[in-house]
Amino acid sequence: LLLLLLWLFVARMDLRQLDPELRRYLRVTRLPEVYEALLAGLAIMQPINPCKWIAEKLFYLQEVGISQIDWDSFIDEEMKPKESPFAIKGVTGLFGGDMGQFGKDIDAPSPEMISRAYQHYNRKSFRRHFDSWLQFHLYRRRRLVEKRRILAKADGHFFQTKVGQIFGTWLEWTRFRKGRQAMAYQILQRVLHVSVVRVMFKAWHGVSLEARKTREYFERELRRLERGDNVTEDEVLSKSTGEARDDLSLVSESLRQQILRHLSLADMSRAACVCRAWKAHTQSSELLHKLDFGQVRQHLTPLVAKKFLAQSGPMLGHLSLAGCRDLPLEVFQCIGACRNLQDVNLSECASLTDDAVGQIVQGCPLLIYVNLSFTGISDNSLRLVAKHAENVRFLSLASCQQLSDRGLQFLAQGQGVHKLELLDLSEGVQFSSDAIVHLASKCHKIKHLMFNDMYNMQSACLMEVASHCPSVEHYELFGCSSLTDDSFRAISNRSLRVLKLDKNDIITDAAFGHLGRRCPELHQLCVADCVRVTDQALKAIGQLRYIRVLNLADCVRLSDAGARASPRRRSPSRCASSTSPTPSASPTTE
Ligand SMILES: *[C@@H]1O[C@H](CO)[C@@H](O)[C@H](O)[C@H]1NC(C)=O
Ligand SMILES: *[C@@H]1O[C@H](CO)[C@@H](O)[C@H](O)[C@H]1NC(C)=O
Ligand SMILES: *[C@@H]1O[C@H](CO)[C@@H](O)[C@H](O)[C@H]1NC(C)=O
Ligand SMILES: *[C@@H]1O[C@H](CO)[C@@H](O)[C@H](O)[C@H]1NC(C)=O
Repeated sequence: LLLLLLWLFVARMDLRQLDPELRRYLRVTRLPEVYEALLAGLAIMQPINPCKWIAEKLFYLQEVGISQIDWDSFIDEEMKPKESPFAIKGVTGLFGGDMGQFGKDIDAPSPEMISRAYQHYNRKSFRRHFDSWLQFHLYRRRRLVEKRRILAKADGHFFQTKVGQIFGTWLEWTRFRKGRQAMAYQILQRVLHVSVVRVMFKAWHGVSLEARKTREYFERELRRLERGDNVTEDEVLSKSTGEARDDLSLVSESLRQQILRHLSLADMSRAACVCRAWKAHTQSSELLHKLDFGQVRQHLTPLVAKKFLAQSGPMLGHLSLAGCRDLPLEVFQCIGACRNLQDVNLSECASLTDDAVGQIVQGCPLLIYVNLSFTGISDNSLRLVAKHAENVRFLSLASCQQLSDRGLQFLAQGQGVHKLELLDLSEGVQFSSDAIVHLASKCHKIKHLMFNDMYNMQSACLMEVASHCPSVEHYELFGCSSLTDDSFRAISNRSLRVLKLDKNDIITDAAFGHLGRRCPELHQLCVADCVRVTDQALKAIGQLRYIRVLNLADCVRLSDAGARASPRRRSPSRCASSTSPTPSASPTTE
């Protein structure tokens, strides 16, 4: 036990820090092994007398020598344990690892330790490697997932870009196709239009040709029936009969009509008596367009007039019955049936009544020219004219003694009064100034005004008329003897072209001053028999540059000197001067 304590004491001290001298001593003498062997023997054999046992053993050692010592050298064979009771290091371990030179290296690890360490190391390394591998694996997996995600995104982007490109191309193409289609549509439409028009035109052409043929056929038939025979046109013109071989029949239709147009109705009737062919010639529609009974009024009977009118019918455009004094109402009724009549001259038709006028204006809505001068019509006629003849532009009411102010009022209320361009109220002395002015105020477009022989026409009235009708170009004031210089001032305007008056003792040279200054367009001036006109007037007239007709007959104060001194002398060829009816007083222009 003491030894054990001693060993413990020794064990507790760090042998490695011992003096090297001592350590060498311990190594050479192998004392630690001796102690270990003793201790191991004591511990296992447990002798009753340890001191005696130790002494025995030390004697034995002295005999044997120290080199044969081992840790179990003092233990009996049957009690020898497998391992030293002093664990791995044992007593020898106390002296460090550098004792190998006298035994095996006590510091070297045992196989168990190595295997343990190896196992430990192996486990650790395995774990580390496994961890790294796991990390790496996870990392790769993450990389893979990320890569897939990016790839999917790229795919989507690529797809979208591609789709966008394709869509753009497609859009362009569609637009192009659309444009082409629109163009083609237009072309097709144009072609269709043209072909439709062509077809329509062809059809129309065919129809009109057909219509012409039909008309010609019926005209031919009509003529034949009128002649009362059964021969055809060809037979009429055939050589066998000898008819229609004259010069007139052989010239062309239009030329023949031009020739026949110069004949009066009487001559035409005579020509119609020559032969059947000539009769047919005189009855062409072109020749029936214009009928002038005025030239044949002595021979005209109601029956003939009616026959001509019925023949012309709708073809009649111009009709003159001037001077046909005793025509009955039936004739005027026949005129009413000519619905395309434009001009009708009824002047001096003494038998003309209001009824007759009514028949004519109701039947002929296209009337433009109506001459009712020198007839016995009353206000009622004017009412009918104003009501029905809305297109009348030229209206002559000269010398209609039965008319009164009421008639002019009717006229002023008419629908077409503003279209009136010519109004002839000559010799209408019965009309009051107010009625004339009222009518004139409605006629804005009037260009020709005729107030001949209205000796009672006052200056004030004419001035008012002139203020309402500024565009009058033509004034006829023959015999208006009470007009003054002022009224000439009023009618002097740029538009004035023709001015005619005579037998006026009031106007002076001042009137010509107005004309000279304000009527540059005046080209016809007739101032006959005005006694107060002097050479001064000639000077004023000299300013009128366009004057072509100048009548100063019977203006007795004019002198040769004045005529010669007139500032602008016209060449005789350009100025058609009017000669005075009395050769004695002819101081007129060249
Ligand atoms: C006219 O001719 C037709 C046939 O062309 C005939 O039937 C008729 O009898 C003739 N009339 C006269 C009056 O000759
Ligand atoms: C109407 O007859 C008269 C008298 O014959 C004539 O002066 C006048 O010029 C004729 N008018 C037309 C438009 O023919
Ligand atoms: C109307 O007839 C008369 C003759 O009766 C003629 O003097 C006058 O000039 C004619 N009117 C027109 C506007 O032609
Ligand atoms: C001349 O006529 C015009 C219309 O054409 C009118 O405005 C003007 O007042 C007239 N002048 C005179 C002096 O009457």
